[in-house]
Amino acid sequence: MKRFVVFVSALALAALGVAGALAARGGYFSAGEVDARPSSATPELVARGDYLAKVGGCVSCHTQAGQPLMSGGVGITTPYGVVWPGNLTPDATTGLGAWSLADFRRALRHGQSRDGRLLSPAFPYAATTLLPDADVQALWAWLGTLPATARPAPAATLSWPTNERWALAIWRGLYFTPGELAPVPGQSAEWQRGALLVRGVAHCSACHDSRNALGAAREPGSLDGQLMPGGGWLAPSLLQADQAGVQAWRTEDIVALLREGQSPQGRANGPMAEVVHANTRHLTLADAQAMATYLRALPVQPDAAPQAPMKTPAPATPASSASQDGSAAIAVPGARLYARHCAECHGDQGQGVPGVYPPLAGNRLVTMSRHNNLVRSVMEGGFALPTAAEPRPYGMPPFGPLLSDPELAELLSWMRTAWGHQAAPVSTVDINRLRGDLQR
Ligand code: HEC
Ligand code: HEC
Ligand code: HEC
Repeated sequence: MKRFVVFVSALALAALGVAGALAARGGYFSAGEVDARPSSATPELVARGDYLAKVGGCVSCHTQAGQPLMSGGVGITTPYGVVWPGNLTPDATTGLGAWSLADFRRALRHGQSRDGRLLSPAFPYAATTLLPDADVQALWAWLGTLPATARPAPAATLSWPTNERWALAIWRGLYFTPGELAPVPGQSAEWQRGALLVRGVAHCSACHDSRNALGAAREPGSLDGQLMPGGGWLAPSLLQADQAGVQAWRTEDIVALLREGQSPQGRANGPMAEVVHANTRHLTLADAQAMATYLRALPVQPDAAPQAPMKTPAPATPASSASQDGSAAIAVPGARLYARHCAECHGDQGQGVPGVYPPLAGNRLVTMSRHNNLVRSVMEGGFALPTAAEPRPYGMPPFGPLLSDPELAELLSWMRTAWGHQAAPVSTVDINRLRGDLQR
């Protein structure tokens, strides 16, 4: 069904006469290039490539658990079928053994394979196109040091390959502009470095940019938030204080979020926890600080839905005096569920335990106007990242299997109006829909 929609949209675009826009844009590289690997590669260059490959998720996407490093990753589902992050080891037939640096640069900068095939944007080349040439060379040098592993990627299960190729060409003509990131005059050197990391190798936009019906960023690099494909998690807006904006955070708190997945102001959950675990925890302090500088300087947008007091209070809205009067609290179903399942860790007042259990009172995940991430977090539970200080972090069990849809609705609606919160309730239907996404 989705495929049909994309196909029809592609047709509509063709009818609009944009087919001309697909004039091939790739393939500009200087002839006679010397490969940087492995003989001419310095240890520093290789180490830099290793670092970028971790921070940029090349490693996490192109490696499957239990298989050799970079020998090919887990398939990624797109509207057209499954595409496979291929084998990037120097194997001559199934990897990049026969590639030149120029071929590699073309893949990163223009999203084209060695044979000219247009690559699926599941490979975030809208971000890798911004990489400075020195970084491309470093990645290439590092890849050249890996053991060659013969491991073919499974054939892509694209249902309508010709149409995909055709639609992709149009899509790219409209939405993909190759090229390095130009420095912005008037900004500090640290900001420029942060911009390059956030927009380039760290590809934050891959999830955080809002997209149009054809899956293209409305305004590349805007980080204005979107519902992630699959419909469950919201990648919140980095421009809004009630979502993921960090403009008012201290630099060290942003650094802690990126490198450890938690900070006094908030923590990474779901897909963001995976990003921290796989990629950003490898950031050097200086790079994480540069990214924080860039994120703090992002424009601030007003809250999407100001948390105005509700006109008709939901029946489950407790008196905020519930906390002073334990017996009254227990009379409210949501409060009763909280006391029974949550209070032992998160505290009677949702105050949490510093460094152990996050506070829920005053937590923007709890009050965000779009409640997707709250529901998913409570359904899925989770573990914080192990750190030197806390090698065995505290976890939270998944409550999805334990609580029914009406119970979760009661509980979360109560939490969204307890402790001075004024957020809209969550309905049983919402929970049911998100539970469906979870099981998919
Ligand atoms: C989010 C997952 C993801 C990340 C992160 C990612 N890739 Fe990929 N990559 C893919 C997918 C999927 C493909 C296959 C696209 C296709 O076949 O159309 C791919 C293809 C490629 C190709 C082309 C291979 C070929 O045979 O044509 C190269 C080269 C590549 N990636 C390098 C990198 C490098 C270097 C990085 C890190 C800077 C990186 N990728 C990060 C998913 C990813
Ligand atoms: C794979 C998708 C994905 C990528 C890539 C990604 N994010 Fe996120 N991010 C999310 C989701 C989903 C959430 C919401 C869950 C949560 O609150 O942690 C989130 C939340 C956040 C938050 C709010 C955390 C809080 O405590 O309120 C910040 C800040 C953030 N992301 C920054 C970034 C930055 C910077 C990058 C690039 C390094 C990035 N994200 C890359 C998906 C992603
Ligand atoms: C055994 C202790 C424990 C119990 C019981 C528990 N939690 Fe948690 N909770 C945690 C821990 C630990 C985390 C942090 C997990 C992580 O970092 O992934 C957490 C995280 C959360 C978060 C995400 C907070 C954030 O800022 O990202 C929410 C929301 C939450 N819990 C709600 C609840 C609710 C609602 C209940 C009751 C149904 C509950 N928890 C029961 C330990 C617990």
